[in-house]
Amino acid sequence: MPLPKAELHLHIEGTLEPELAFELAARNGVELPYADTDELGKAYQFEDLQSFLNLYYELMAVLRTERDFEDLANAYLARAAAQGVRHAEIFFDPQAHTKRGLELGTVVEGLWRALGGSEANHGVSTRLIMCFLRDDSAESAMATLRAAEPYLDRITGVGLDSAEVGHPPVKFREVYEAAAALGLRRVAHAGEEGPPAYITEALDVLGVERVDHGLRCVEDPALVDRLVRERVPLTLCPLSNVRLRTVDTLADHPLPAMLDAGLVCTVNSDDPAYFGGYAGDNFDAVRATLGLDRERLRELARNSFLASFLEDDEERRER
Ligand code: HPA
Ligand code: ZN
Repeated sequence: MPLPKAELHLHIEGTLEPELAFELAARNGVELPYADTDELGKAYQFEDLQSFLNLYYELMAVLRTERDFEDLANAYLARAAAQGVRHAEIFFDPQAHTKRGLELGTVVEGLWRALGGSEANHGVSTRLIMCFLRDDSAESAMATLRAAEPYLDRITGVGLDSAEVGHPPVKFREVYEAAAALGLRRVAHAGEEGPPAYITEALDVLGVERVDHGLRCVEDPALVDRLVRERVPLTLCPLSNVRLRTVDTLADHPLPAMLDAGLVCTVNSDDPAYFGGYAGDNFDAVRATLGLDRERLRELARNSFLASFLEDDEERRER
């Protein structure tokens, strides 16, 4: 039995497996610039975040209809459930779809067709978090927030993703203020490729409750002290860090030292179809390579529920 866990850092578009990409391409008459899954597989060698994002956005072209988003989410939920995920807080990138001409409603309703039945069909409770693309303008993010207002019964929070360096959190101050005024929870990617100062800014300017990645906090001892003191959860993604070369090898990952320092760490998959594994695979990898013992793994799983946006009574039910 895999350890029950919550997944808090998961981009639904990053769960698009090569086989499903080709299936959806055929269904929608979309031509992919790869002959087959083998050839596509060769494109999964990344130098950094941007080289991954290029492929991630390219393959999204196959997602066109509500049914596509439903199938994508159901495929993820089935895989996650098999690896012990009982609760998933799922990111999606509305602008990556609306800029291709899709309606926001197609994306949200399609995802909801899977998420609405997830507890019954997969035994996984879910939340949906809408991310703004930080390399797009703040005006575009604000327009996206406004366009999402009819769907806010289905959206729990906002996040910030895509190319980090050069796009500091402060760029989205007004958008996050507006999101807070709408009662949305707030998270943001910070300190993946960007400097520790972006983590501080995400906390102080955007008012985030969790930091996605947050890995580079280890470069700033005063920031680590603060994150420990304020018990700010970090949603770490070890296999992603290896594939995007944020760490040299998994053996070099600072997760054990971060836990020893008292940071509230969680382990997540980020974009599992691209980075070589789902949530349970990430747990297995850190156990095998970093030598985390059973107590540490249980701490990671416990942290994942505590850091989730489940309400207290729901949280007890999940565990
Ligand atoms: N970082 C930033 N943006 C992203 C990621 C990531 O790991 N995955 C999908 N969008
Ligand atoms: Zn991410």
